[in-house]
Amino acid sequence: MRGCKIDFESLKIELRKTLSEKRFQHTLGVEQRAIEIGKHFSENPENLRAAALLHDCAKSMNQEEQISYAKEHSIPLSEHDLKAKGIIHAKIGAFIARKNFHISAPEILDAIAFHSTGRAGMTRFEKIIFASDYLDPYRKFQEENDKLLKLIYSNLDKGVLEIVKAKLRYVMEKNESIHPLSIQFYNSLLIPV
Ligand SMILES: [Fe+2]
Ligand SMILES: [Fe+2]
Repeated sequence: MRGCKIDFESLKIELRKTLSEKRFQHTLGVEQRAIEIGKHFSENPENLRAAALLHDCAKSMNQEEQISYAKEHSIPLSEHDLKAKGIIHAKIGAFIARKNFHISAPEILDAIAFHSTGRAGMTRFEKIIFASDYLDPYRKFQEENDKLLKLIYSNLDKGVLEIVKAKLRYVMEKNESIHPLSIQFYNSLLIPV
């Protein structure tokens, strides 16, 4: 997609066809948030919009369908990918973004692939998508959103660290498996790599 303009309206029409109403609204919320945060940090708004709009594109499939799709297209899934709940849509989403939506910019594809787990040493672009996913303005917790946004604007890593902690707490409360990439992401925010 680098070098050629992304037709966002067509992209939205395509996504609306496959995503549930709730997921589509979340997608638009993430787009809105990514533009807003990206402006503050002078990140490429076009690429942020593409990553935000496509980050959950694989959620048109349920978990079983996602696993079948991965097998069918030889997308490697590790034992940890399968153990940690609800994260494989990110890796598959990046594949679909490239295959079906012709996105080739690595920063867009990586931001999609790691939006759920995070990873050590994420780029600023990736962190903005990770944070925007959590701070979707349609999310219920407005007060928490405002607090985290303020923190992000004063220090991106500190704000993102609070989001990672909240996400890890949620997974731990449910006694679910934590993906090693998420632990590595958490550690990298404490001690920059
Ligand atoms: Fe997601
Ligand atoms: Fe999402």
